[in-house]
Amino acid sequence: MSRNQELQGRRDAAFARGLGNQLPVYVERARNAELWDVEGRRYIDFGSGIAVLNTGHLHPKVQAAVAKQLDAFSHTCLMVTPYESAVELAEKLNKLAPGPTPKKTIFVTTGAEAVENTIKIARAHTGRSGVIAFGGGFHGRTFMAMALTGKVAPYKAGFGPFPPEVYHAPFPIAYHGVSVQDSLDALEHLFKYDIEPARVAAIIIEPVMGEGGFYIAPPEFLQALRKLCDQHGIVLVIDEIQTGFARTGRMFAIEYAGIEPDLMTMAKSLAGGFPLAAVVGKAHIMDAPGPGGLGGTYAGSPIACAAALAVLEVIQEEKLCQRAEQIGTLMVSTLRGAQKLLPAIGEVRNLGAMVAIELVKNGDAHQPDADLTKALVKRAAEKGVVLLSCGIYGNVIRFLAPLTASDEIVREGLGLVVDSLRELTAVAVKTAVNA
Ligand SMILES: Cc1ncc(COP(=O)(O)O)c(C=O)c1O
Repeated sequence: MSRNQELQGRRDAAFARGLGNQLPVYVERARNAELWDVEGRRYIDFGSGIAVLNTGHLHPKVQAAVAKQLDAFSHTCLMVTPYESAVELAEKLNKLAPGPTPKKTIFVTTGAEAVENTIKIARAHTGRSGVIAFGGGFHGRTFMAMALTGKVAPYKAGFGPFPPEVYHAPFPIAYHGVSVQDSLDALEHLFKYDIEPARVAAIIIEPVMGEGGFYIAPPEFLQALRKLCDQHGIVLVIDEIQTGFARTGRMFAIEYAGIEPDLMTMAKSLAGGFPLAAVVGKAHIMDAPGPGGLGGTYAGSPIACAAALAVLEVIQEEKLCQRAEQIGTLMVSTLRGAQKLLPAIGEVRNLGAMVAIELVKNGDAHQPDADLTKALVKRAAEKGVVLLSCGIYGNVIRFLAPLTASDEIVREGLGLVVDSLRELTAVAVKTAVNA
């Protein structure tokens, strides 16, 4: 029995099965865009720990900032005896958040917690209860975040009842025949059939759906949402947890739409691998809840704040927004080349270095191939690439290479992925011929 197999056996016995596991690969060490398992095998990391490592594994600057902080203190609780790094980070995020309105910040620990807090703040500000989210969206695993998430299996099945007054509208996905107008019409129908806009506290949306399949919300849709929210006094919440911190070629994906969110959620790549999340928003909205209504024991951990300040420096110094665009262009041109030979690739799409391929049967958008997607994740890992799947239909491969990865590593990883897909689809073609 290999060391990975032995650990997998122990894992299966020790953990509840609800805690998913993509690959039976146990990590020993990691640097930048590579990791090595307990058997000494090397992997190219195209998952970045689910979009957490835009600055790569253990960026030297992040590592040094954390080491320095560990020499000083590790925890005091921001709500008890605060520290300058947290204040400095909040000031920086307030400046980075798009739009002219003065901003304020709160820190929490996880993305789901940030989402929960946006709804608390929006309700406190508006005195209203309703919340609208989008089908296929993912906002986390706590109760309100689950309610907002627009995918039943595996995230909601068996866990209800959920907080009431949450409604879903369809996310505009041209590839699946849902236009911007269809989504806007559906919102009007919601206002007609389910809840009047004057009772809606917030609309929450990911500018690019993460877990849902890397579908990009068209700028005109986000602009229309901004207008709708202004018209009805609804708080517009932009969930940038997966899209933030240079991933899409801008600091935040919402910048492509040129609108100012009321509230934004941030987490994942904010602190380069340390648990930190934030809500950043218009100051007068953020100040709605009373003192003590927001916070958490580990919210704004000094270690994570030190890491986040270093992450922001690295993004600027290494021009990671530009680099995201370069990586996106390189990946898309390679994958579009592969698409010409491999009809299983139904669509290649990207916003900067948030790149995805959607795998289908018979070149048909309406025949998702979730089995091939699973097989590709497995085969790519056997060849030494960590890949993540996602998608409403489980048939999307998302590429989330660290933005610090070299062209050589990106090319090498993509080559292995395309080889894997070629092998798997050749087998499928042969099986179909034999049948
Ligand atoms: C868009 C989005 N929102 C919220 C979350 C939840 O974040 P966390 O897993 O840190 O609670 C995620 C996590 O994948 C996400 O991608």
